[in-house]
Amino acid sequence: MPGIVYKKWLVVMLAFTALFLTACGEKQEERGKLIMVTNATFPPYEFYQGDRIVGIDADMVREIALRNNLELVIEDMSFDSVIAAVQTGKADVAASGITVTEDRKKQIDFTTSYVQADQVIIVRDEAAIAGPADLKGRRIGVQHGTTGDMYVTSNIQEPERFQDGALAVASLVTGKIDAVVLDSAPAEEHVARNKGIRILPGALVSEEYAMAISKNRPELLAMFNKTMAEMKADGTMKTIWARYLDEHGKPLAVPAVESVEKGLWQRMAESFDVNFVKDNRWRYLVNGFLVTIQISACAVLMGLVIGFLVAVVRSAHDQTGRYKVLNFLCHIYLTVVRGTPVVVQLLIIYFVIFGSVDVSKVLVAIVAFGVNSGAYVAEIIRSGIMAVDSGQMEAGRSLGLSYGTTMRSVILPQAFKNVLPALGNEFIVLLKETSVCGYIALQDLTKGGDIIRSQTYDAFLPLIAVALTYLVVVVCLSQLMKKLENSLKKNER
Ligand code: ARG
Repeated sequence: MPGIVYKKWLVVMLAFTALFLTACGEKQEERGKLIMVTNATFPPYEFYQGDRIVGIDADMVREIALRNNLELVIEDMSFDSVIAAVQTGKADVAASGITVTEDRKKQIDFTTSYVQADQVIIVRDEAAIAGPADLKGRRIGVQHGTTGDMYVTSNIQEPERFQDGALAVASLVTGKIDAVVLDSAPAEEHVARNKGIRILPGALVSEEYAMAISKNRPELLAMFNKTMAEMKADGTMKTIWARYLDEHGKPLAVPAVESVEKGLWQRMAESFDVNFVKDNRWRYLVNGFLVTIQISACAVLMGLVIGFLVAVVRSAHDQTGRYKVLNFLCHIYLTVVRGTPVVVQLLIIYFVIFGSVDVSKVLVAIVAFGVNSGAYVAEIIRSGIMAVDSGQMEAGRSLGLSYGTTMRSVILPQAFKNVLPALGNEFIVLLKETSVCGYIALQDLTKGGDIIRSQTYDAFLPLIAVALTYLVVVVCLSQLMKKLENSLKKNER
């Protein structure tokens, strides 16, 4: 019943298209908005409180936006991307506890600095490390791309670079590393929230924080400096600081560290509550899951279309010698896409190709993963076409069918059936690969788990929950592919 199969496919295609259109139609930033980028794993300067990013930086920029009649949009991304985001015009300002350095000044302009901060060393209570001199040869953790990272790299040795400070501290607590070099204020927060670690007295270096603005936006810079000066003069700055730090610069409102020993089950139940129930944190997983599905589904469709076209061009060229130019272009496409990692492609598409246009990030991700997957799908389909016995083509042609017709009605249906398992595999890979979306500040499933982790300082349950969700989706996907294979097999008879 090929008719029924086609109808099924039509329905599937329509569903995909609808998903794609919702992604494209996502509301774009209008005028009058101020886009701030940050890395919200840095209390008390930026961190999540429920759904909201709060903290000294966030509150400060919120106030600046308010006073200048702008609507603030905060985007959370990895720290090593925030300056690039400003530089390429993806965001207006980066406020992320950014230390003023000469190297960074070459890339962007800094506002007047608003606080002085230190890099400090965190160690376990019992560690025999008294100061920087004892660090050599130890395992030192830092947050990737920070001044702590730079300091350790150029003055001590290669550090272990973590995506955020909390992960580095978690590794310290569990004994995987011996020290963490971190900014003093978040270090205080971590020490207050974790048992068994302390900050060594004395600072490695003293620094100043400022916000980063593109060199092409002197008017914006002037606006920030002016408003910041006003906020300092009228006491607003002080008020903002007092929301998070006491007069000694120690964090306010930190949950007391548990000291009574609890049973395993009780601890698990509490951890479950904190990670998923409290503040409705489960919503990060659900929303992230929807984003992941949306991106994967649309990218699969796009990859199929691209892959199919490329495979047909390449096979036609192999078999008939036609389409030389097209074949050459396809060859370049395959080489470039398969020769570079998908994260790098994603970042290039986001920062370079769509650098100066304002497009939805979901769309960027769909394009990146669709284009990437297309290359693999192309080779899968081509191998399917080549595996069909060459006698089939000869038979078709000798019956008087044209090359195109033989391809369409004899070769491709057989090829498609043969490559279904490989295609299914490609979809699974694609789904999991979308987990790097967090690099461009998209809140997919993995990032959802990361946000929970950054709020609860607990790595175990959020990671397990994320892993389980992917697993369930993959299992369902495999089942679906199996069904499709079976139904095609039945059609054969
Ligand atoms: N002050 C350091 C730097 O500029 C670390 C900042 C990290 N900020 C963050 N939001 N994670 O390199």
